Amino acid sequence: MIPFLDLKAASAELEADIAQAISRVVSSGWYIGGPEVETFEAEWAAYCEARLAVGIGNGLDALCLALRACDVGPGDEVIVPSHTFVATWLAVLAIGATPVPVEPNPGTMNISADQIAARLTSLTRAILPVHLYGQPVDLDPIIAIARANGLRVIEDAAQAHGARYNGRRIGGHGDVACWSFYPGKNLGALGDAGAITTNDPDIAARVRRLANYGSSTKYVHEDRGVNSRLDPLQAAVLSVKLKHLDAWNKRRSSIAKSYEIVLRGLGFQLPAVANFADPVWHLYVIQAENREPVQAALDAAGIGTLVHYPIACHQQKAMADLDLHGTSLPLAEKLASTVLSLPIGPHCPPDIANRVLGALSTALKHP
Ligand SMILES: Cc1ncc(COP(=O)(O)O)c(C=O)c1O
Repeated sequence: MIPFLDLKAASAELEADIAQAISRVVSSGWYIGGPEVETFEAEWAAYCEARLAVGIGNGLDALCLALRACDVGPGDEVIVPSHTFVATWLAVLAIGATPVPVEPNPGTMNISADQIAARLTSLTRAILPVHLYGQPVDLDPIIAIARANGLRVIEDAAQAHGARYNGRRIGGHGDVACWSFYPGKNLGALGDAGAITTNDPDIAARVRRLANYGSSTKYVHEDRGVNSRLDPLQAAVLSVKLKHLDAWNKRRSSIAKSYEIVLRGLGFQLPAVANFADPVWHLYVIQAENREPVQAALDAAGIGTLVHYPIACHQQKAMADLDLHGTSLPLAEKLASTVLSLPIGPHCPPDIANRVLGALSTALKHP
């Protein structure tokens, strides 16, 4: 059996270092903030080639607080991809703004930069591109549109730890990038965790304050903030894992390469990689018109798969009252019914692509 994702394997590989990090926190007496969080923030900023990082409780809060720190609020519009994890839209809605969806490029499945300009209105305040599945978005045209129109660029980088755009890491391109360290991410904690990275000290300071009850001086509250701080235990674990991130991403890349070779010509749309992109393959997502039998064949062969994501954001019940002005989003709907995520990860068997091929060939021979 090959599970879609083996979360225990990463912990097992680093068991001794993780145990030591946890015990260091336990004996330090610092259970909120403190040196472990500061150390990880500095390491994460350096890794992302950004000036500053601020630890947050999770990725959704990182998005909400980044939006607020960029003065996006009730009544404003934010450009979002039509095809993304629902958290991107929920963050916009949580701060009282309206998500304005833009369809993806069918090959990379990331937001089409050339369709953004047509969706801008006098209410647009920010563009929120998502580096989905670990594939960097084409940022330069998006940043150019933003600069020309006085908009902020807030990146959802929850799936893109270590990815590069035009040779430079994701994390310091737009105004602010938002990270999730949810356990299944390329850099995952042992629970919920998140961060923002930015080159702008004002944004960093505002996010830090908002995440700490709106306070930067004890019992003085400048903003109506929340409590969403990176836990020192998680920070200590993330520092241990960060040292392995590049090696782990390399293992993902080599699996992606073998999928690319063995699945070519079988009738699936394989993920396209743009020439500006060094993806980190958080997910390896193929598009299969006949998804159900393909998934069933892999399941019968003991190979776990998942669908990211089976319902388009605008078709979720949670969005039923959104006035999308009759916007039709056929690409998002098509992807919801065709995408299929194959197993990929640093602890996935290196011959996984051949096993997938074997399972599919058997199924094709014996339909
Ligand atoms: C694209 C995207 N955005 C936002 C999030 C939210 O992150 P979290 O689960 O840490 O709140 C996630 C992950 O869960 C994600 O994949």
